[in-house]
Amino acid sequence: MKVVDCPRARLYDVVAGAFTTLGRQPAMIELGVHKGDNATRLMDVLGTRHSVLVDAWSAEALKTYSHFDRLPPWILPLTAFERYFGGSLSDQATFDRTYEVARQRFEGRGDVEIIRDDTISAFARIRDRHGDGAFDFIYVDANHQYEYVLRDLLYYQHLLAEDGVMMLNDCCHSQKGMNQNLGVLEAVGSFLKRADFVPVALTSTDMSDLIIARKGSAVAAALDAALDATDISFVEVMPQMLAAAHIRLSPQGRARVSFA
Ligand SMILES: C[S@@+](CC[C@H](N)C(=O)[O-])C[C@H]1O[C@@H](n2cnc3c(N)ncnc32)[C@H](O)[C@@H]1O
Repeated sequence: MKVVDCPRARLYDVVAGAFTTLGRQPAMIELGVHKGDNATRLMDVLGTRHSVLVDAWSAEALKTYSHFDRLPPWILPLTAFERYFGGSLSDQATFDRTYEVARQRFEGRGDVEIIRDDTISAFARIRDRHGDGAFDFIYVDANHQYEYVLRDLLYYQHLLAEDGVMMLNDCCHSQKGMNQNLGVLEAVGSFLKRADFVPVALTSTDMSDLIIARKGSAVAAALDAALDATDISFVEVMPQMLAAAHIRLSPQGRARVSFA
């Protein structure tokens, strides 16, 4: 696994380079779309042939944020994220507005399918329509709680081609992550024990992004080669180190991945 000194957007170039090497124009799924900013960037950089964008755009979907009646002191209340979502998270109108932004953004595009549903209901619909192994790239960024991320990974691996790539957002253990009750890093750790995937690259940033691919696949080798060909600095570590990764903040506030 390469711990790379770059933001997630640079990794999109790396993924695009790997697909070019393999002669594939990717079909992608994004789980968790919000306004569609990231989906637009992914489509542009990867030059996708088809994109399925899945988001519940629902206040209900955020109710799983914490299982406890009394919020533990290390978890921020949902009101802390109202700015990002553009309104109250208990008000469905906030999500209706965001959905409308995304809908209008991709309106009329035959290469873009929007599914307004929870990820698991959407999974069944995508599988029926496209079949197993139909996608080259899946960006996992919907519900960030442990059970939900693990479930997304376990289901959606079936939709991924043999030489497909999954990428997870907010895959970190950090103060900021704890404040948001993230379970992404723990979920992918469990997934890697259950499935035949390896971690390929982890950004050395807070709210890190992680790329995973199938063990021994051509795309895993192509991603390694694509990273080698860039000027991105990286440190290579054993894949088993992933579970120990945490973000260390310097006194100056710079975030770096540490395994110590
Ligand atoms: C962090 S945002 C996605 C941001 C987007 N990927 C980006 O990078 O700009 C997470 C989104 O996941 C959606 N979401 C949360 N839980 C979900 C679930 N169980 N099924 C579908 N969407 C969900 C929320 O509505 C929200 O828009």
